[in-house]
This record gives sequence, C-alpha cells and structure tokens, in this order.
Amino acid sequence: MTVEEIIVPDPGPGEALVRVQACGVCHTDLHYREGAINDDFPFLLGHEAAGTVEAVGEGVTNVAPGDYVVLAWRAPCGECRSCRRGRPWYCFDSKNATQKMTLADGTELSAALGIGAFAELTLVAADQAVKIDPRARPEAAGLIGCGIMAGFGAAANTGGVGRGDTVAVIGCGGVGDAAIAAASIAGARKIIAVDVDPNKLEWARRFGATDTINSSETDPVEAIRELTDGFGADVVVEAVGRPDTYRQAFFARDHAGTLVQVGVPSPDMQIDLPLLEVFGRGGALKSSWYGDCLPSRDFPILIDLYLRGRLDLDGFVSETIGIDEVEKAFDRMQKGEVLRSVVVL
Ligand SMILES: NC(=O)c1ccc[n+]([C@@H]2O[C@H](COP(=O)([O-])OP(=O)(O)OC[C@H]3O[C@@H](n4cnc5c(N)ncnc54)[C@H](O)[C@@H]3O)[C@@H](O)[C@H]2O)c1
Ligand SMILES: [Zn+2]
Ligand SMILES: [Zn+2]
Repeated sequence: MTVEEIIVPDPGPGEALVRVQACGVCHTDLHYREGAINDDFPFLLGHEAAGTVEAVGEGVTNVAPGDYVVLAWRAPCGECRSCRRGRPWYCFDSKNATQKMTLADGTELSAALGIGAFAELTLVAADQAVKIDPRARPEAAGLIGCGIMAGFGAAANTGGVGRGDTVAVIGCGGVGDAAIAAASIAGARKIIAVDVDPNKLEWARRFGATDTINSSETDPVEAIRELTDGFGADVVVEAVGRPDTYRQAFFARDHAGTLVQVGVPSPDMQIDLPLLEVFGRGGALKSSWYGDCLPSRDFPILIDLYLRGRLDLDGFVSETIGIDEVEKAFDRMQKGEVLRSVVVL
C-alpha cells in the first residue's frame, strides 16, 4: 500500500461527498490487496468509516452537509426482484457513486466495497451514508459499517437468536465477538466461544461469552455438547470460513438447530457431509452476508445500544493509527494481536 494524492469529484445526482474521520482496517481490505477479490487494481481501500457529509448532489434528501454518518456497503435499489419482494437485504443492485475517484494522472480507482475510505474525502451514493447519533465517537461508530454489523446480524438477524437460546460461536475475531455481543443482548442463556487462540477467548468473555473452548486442545463438538446438557447449541455461528470449522458447526447443533456461516471461504475449499445427517438433523444451514442487515434500519439501533452501554464498540478498537500505518495493521491482524486497528484522519 502507498499513500497517494487522489482526485475526488464533486457529488453528482444522488451522490454524497463525505469527510472521513475514522476508518477500521478489515480482513477484506487485506483480501483486496492480495488480489483475492478481483484484479481491478489500483484499489482505494478502507470501508468501515464514520465521518461528516461535506456536500450532496442533486436530488439527495436523506442526508445534508454537516450530518454525521456511517458508510454502508449495502444501499438497496428498491427496484430489483428482492427489493420488490420486501427482502432488500438481498438486493441485487446495491447503489454506489456513479463517478470514479482517480489518481492525479486520471487512473480510475476501484473503491473497496464501493466505499474507499482510507482517504480524507470519499464519494459514495448518498444512500450509503446513514445518519447516526453524533455522540458516538467515530473510531467506534465506523466499525458498525462492516465487521461488527456482519457478526451482530449473523446472530440477531440470520440466526434469529432469542431469549433462552444456547449459542456457540466458532472464530472469535471482530466478527465472531460481534455475534457473541448480539447473542448476549438477545438474551441467550449460554454463549460458548470457540477459537484456537487463548487471547481471543479471553477477549470473547468481555463481549458476553459464558464459556470458552480452545479447539486446538479440545474437540469443540464434544465440549459444546457437554456444555448444553448433551444436546448441542440451538444456533452455531461459523466466523472463520473453513471446511473443518463448518463441519464442527454442523455437528455442534442441537436437533433442528441453525448453522449460520459468516466466515468467507476461499474458492478452492470443498465440504463433504453425510447427506443422511443433513436430512436427519433438520434445522437450517444458512449463510449471512453483511448480517442480512438493512443499514438505514440497523446502524442507528447499534449506535443507540452502544450509547446505552449495552454494545461495547470501544472494546473492538484495539489501536488507532495513521493512514500510513495500514500495512503494519495488516501484519498485526495476521498475528492475531488486534480485533481492529482504526485509521484516524
Ligand atoms: N459474511 C460477511 O458479510 C462478512 C463480513 C466481514 C467479514 N467476514 C468474514 O468473517 C471472517 C472473520 O472475520 P474477522 O474480521 O473476525 O477475522 P479475524 O482474522 O479477526 O478472526 C478470525 C478468528 O478465527 C480464529 N480461527 C482461525 N482458525 C480457527 C480454527 N480452525 N478454529 C477456530 N478459530 C479459528 C482466529 O484465531 C481469529 O480469532 C472472515 O472470513 C471474514 O472475511 C464476513
Ligand atoms: Zn434491490
Ligand atoms: Zn469489512
């Protein structure tokens, strides 16, 4: 990664120019850098951001200059077949800015997840900017723009965790810990955190884990059963993205339990399961993109929970860094030293 001067166009119809205050470093930014998403280099990375609206284009009514916003990578079009069926979280034509940001020489930049917020200013579709309570500090608030929302929604929306449920979360990074926090807020009676890193298990308790399992030492399927009267968990969230952890999640469920896959696998990964078990165990095998969230509905809810002290967003902010330190942050992420490094602009 390099820090470059870029040209950000004035907002056109339906667009908003946003002055970024803080932006988290997410695993997906690293995937982009490694060419694992696509080959549309050069990328403008950064997509977990909070800031203020600087200017808006023609026809924009949802935000105005001065508004404090979190940026979303889902802004439903309202017209595709999913939107029309009342399921806008599956929108097939989510909005982004129409104009491109460029390098000084005119080379077009690909904005990560249609945002691109490791920058002082960024151009987005106005509907990607969601107004939130200005009392939430930007370092914490920006994080709900991706990983926290994905994990929280995986448990609360996709998994439908409710009062009295038993829940297991495999993989306790930022995403898994947000699933744990959501399960705790929803009233789960038991929340079992599973990871291979003892530090991560320690941190998971802070977000509401009632029990922890180090799956590099203990068979997690057996351990989850033991902790749930021999039955397995009602909802298991897989937040790693690997065949072995998916398999653990599949077998760690109670009869008719729900598996929610939020971890993103790589294209070469395969899974082999006995079909009779898939049938016989019943329940639901679901995947969750962005926590099946509707940003304009869900972001203000998460921020209110944060301001009430029920959702510990500050706990996800491991460090704040300068814009020239993102490579170092990738390094720390891979070593498991942080939940989130946050670039402050
Ligand atoms: N579905 C979505 O919309 C969405 C959105 C954001 C991120 N993600 C994905 O969610 C996953 C987690 O993201 P993150 O930011 O929390 O990443 P992270 O790297 O911070 O956390 C991953 C965690 O998994 C643990 N882990 C690794 N191997 C394990 C194993 N075999 N068993 C148990 N735990 C293991 C690690 O120790 C770490 O704590 C990634 O795959 C990411 O791409 C999905
Ligand atoms: Zn749509
Ligand atoms: Zn992300």
